[in-house]
Amino acid sequence: DTGLITYDPGFANTGACLSSITFMDGEKGILRYRGIPVEELAEHSTFKETSYLLINGRLPSQEELRNFSIMLNDHSLVHEDMKTFFQNFPRASHPMGILSAMVNALRSFYPELQTTEEEINFTVTRLLAKVRTMAAMSYKISRGHTVVYPRPDLAYCENFLNMMFHTPVKPYAFVPEVVRALEVFWILHADHEQNCSTTAVRVVGSGRVNLYAAISAGISALWGPLHGGANQAVVEMLSQIHRDGGDYKRAVERAKDKNDPFRLMGFGHRVYKTYDPRAKIMKKMCDDLLAALDFQDPLLDIAKELEEVALKDPYFIDYNLYPNVDFYSGIVLRAIGIPTNMFTVMFAIGRLPGWIAQWKESMDDPQWRISRPRQIYKGPTETHYVPIDQRG
Ligand code: SDX
Repeated sequence: DTGLITYDPGFANTGACLSSITFMDGEKGILRYRGIPVEELAEHSTFKETSYLLINGRLPSQEELRNFSIMLNDHSLVHEDMKTFFQNFPRASHPMGILSAMVNALRSFYPELQTTEEEINFTVTRLLAKVRTMAAMSYKISRGHTVVYPRPDLAYCENFLNMMFHTPVKPYAFVPEVVRALEVFWILHADHEQNCSTTAVRVVGSGRVNLYAAISAGISALWGPLHGGANQAVVEMLSQIHRDGGDYKRAVERAKDKNDPFRLMGFGHRVYKTYDPRAKIMKKMCDDLLAALDFQDPLLDIAKELEEVALKDPYFIDYNLYPNVDFYSGIVLRAIGIPTNMFTVMFAIGRLPGWIAQWKESMDDPQWRISRPRQIYKGPTETHYVPIDQRG
C-alpha cells in the first residue's frame, strides 16, 4: 500500500461507482431491481417489463409497455447480409464468440448516430429486439437448419423459442411452463450491479464508443468459466460426476484440495456470502418445470445431493460458499431444450437490459470520465539501451 493506491489483484474490488439500478446485500442475500425484490419480479413480471424497468427506472404504463412491445417486434429482424457472416463461422465456433462478434458488427449495419436521447433509446430497443433473433439464427445455421423469422403474433420469449425450435415440418409446441421458465430465467439474470461483464461494459463505454461495441465487450467478459460461462461448466461438471457413477462426494473433496485446480462450479460468489436469492428461485423452478414436463434429470438429483453435502462441509461453511445463480440454471435450460454450448448466450440475452441500463447510467452521469485505473509499479528502475553487439 503506497498510500496512493492499494494493490488490488485483477481489480477484484476496484473502487465503487454510484448507481441507482440494482441493490444487492451479500450478507442477507437480497437482490432488488430499481427497489423491487427479484422474487416479486420473478413471480409477477415478464422479461420485457423487467427490461423496461431496469432501463427506464420504473415499471411501464400499459400504453408504454404496448409501445415497447411494438418497437421490439418492428426491429426484431436482422439485416439479411448478416446471414452470410453466420454461415461462414466454422461450425464448431462457440456461440458466445459469434454473438460478441455479431453484436459488434451491428454497428456496421446500423451506423445511425447515438447522441440524442431519442437516438439512444431507439438503438437500445433495436439491440434488445435483435439479440434473440441473432442467437436463434446462429443456432439454426450452425445446425444447417432453415432460419426461422420472428412472428408479430408472438411475445418476446415465445418468439425466441419458436425461432430456436420450430421447423417447416414440425411446428414448435408451446408449453406454458416452459415459456414461463424462460421468462423467469431471463428476469433472474437481468442485472447484478457491478459484476465482471457489467464493469467491462462501463469501462469500454467510458471511452464513448458506440453501444454495440460496449455490449460486445460485456459478452466477451461474461464468456469466462468463472463468470457467465459457469452455467455451462456446472452441467459439464454434473455430467462428468454422473458418468463417473454419481460420486458427488469425491467432487466435494476435490474442490477442497488446494493441489487440485478443480472448483465446485456454481458455488461461491464475490458478493453473496449466503445463498444466492436467484439460486433459490432457480432450484424450485427445476422441480416445477421437470414435474410439468414429466421429465427426470439425473443431474438435478446429483446437484441437490452435492449441495446438501457441501453446505454441511466446514470448508464451504468457513468460506461462505453457497450455490450461485449458475448452479441450477443449466438444468432449467436443459429441460427447455437449449444446447449446452448456448447456456452462456442465454445468460447474455438475460443480462442485456442490465448492461444497457448500466451503460446508460454512466453515459448520463456528468461526472463520468474515461476509465483509467492506476498501478503500483514494481519493475526495474531506470536502465539504458545496450547495442546488440554488446549483449553477449
Ligand atoms: C457469476 O459478480 C457477479 O455478480 C457474477 C454473477 C452475475 O450475476 O453477474 O453473479 C454471475 O459469475 C456467478 C459466479 C459463477 N462462477 C462460478 O460458479 C465458478 C466457481 N466459483 C469460484 O470460481 C468463485 O467462487 C468465484 C469466482 C465465483 C468468486 O471468486 P472470489 O470471490 O475471488 O472467491 P475466492 O477465489 O476469493 O474464494 C475464496 C476462497 C479461495 O480459497 P483460497 O485460495 O483463499 O484458499 O474460496 C475458494 C477459493 O479457492 N473457493 C472455492 C470456490 N469458490 C471459492 N473453492 C472451491 N470451489 C469453489 N467454487
